[in-house]
Amino acid sequence: PSLVKTPHHDDYQKTADWILSQTQHRPKVAIICGSGLGMLADALKLQDSFHYSDIPGFPQSTELKGKTCVCMQGRFHMYEGHSLCKVTFPVRVFKLLGVETLIVTNAAGALADGFGPRFPPMSGVYDKDLRRLAKDICKSLGYSQFVQEGVYCMVGGPNFESIAEARFLHKLGADAVGMSTAPEVLVASHCGMKVFGLSLITNKVVKDYDDTEKVNHEGVLGVSKMRSETLQTLVTELVSRLDIN
Ligand code: 6GU
Repeated sequence: PSLVKTPHHDDYQKTADWILSQTQHRPKVAIICGSGLGMLADALKLQDSFHYSDIPGFPQSTELKGKTCVCMQGRFHMYEGHSLCKVTFPVRVFKLLGVETLIVTNAAGALADGFGPRFPPMSGVYDKDLRRLAKDICKSLGYSQFVQEGVYCMVGGPNFESIAEARFLHKLGADAVGMSTAPEVLVASHCGMKVFGLSLITNKVVKDYDDTEKVNHEGVLGVSKMRSETLQTLVTELVSRLDIN
């Protein structure tokens, strides 16, 4: 028998009911903050926040620019030994809270050199209107030179890629690589949410055998802290311009 108990609708509902009983907030937007990007959660006003350990399941509920949001400050990763069910559990709880839009963020390494302008458009799970809106916002904030669209690829981690793996992923068409997000996006899309994804490119992935540089977690966290304000500004503006409550 499987050691992992698959949650059922009742389990998600129990967590959602608990959260709804603890707060007046009724969020239409959910944000999942990735490694080093949790300051966004601290910026939210009128917070009702909960420790994950207190929630019969988990999240945080608050307001950003007058829009009620539920925000996870840090996520569950598969490489920490969590099952896919656990990693995606909050997304279905969000759905039961009434969430219609999910914004996911992460830290990722760049596979495409320089992130040129010619990326193939992504279609499907990442919402077209939200991508358009984000691009407009980037333009008005002066972010266009360094914000680009591309293909994000998730690997299991917690190790970073070998050079051979990095080359393989790049050849497959990935522009950036990280260790999270794909399961949550899949589940959110499955339950009918609009999804917007934002990767903070923290480093260049080593793809050359002569390159002696090595990626490390502290470096990744350092860069994401350095850029957290930029990311925060972008997400905040995006949320404020969402066509909801
Ligand atoms: Cl280089 N690889 C992976 N898998 N995840 C990352 C990363 C690299 N940089 C930030 N996150």
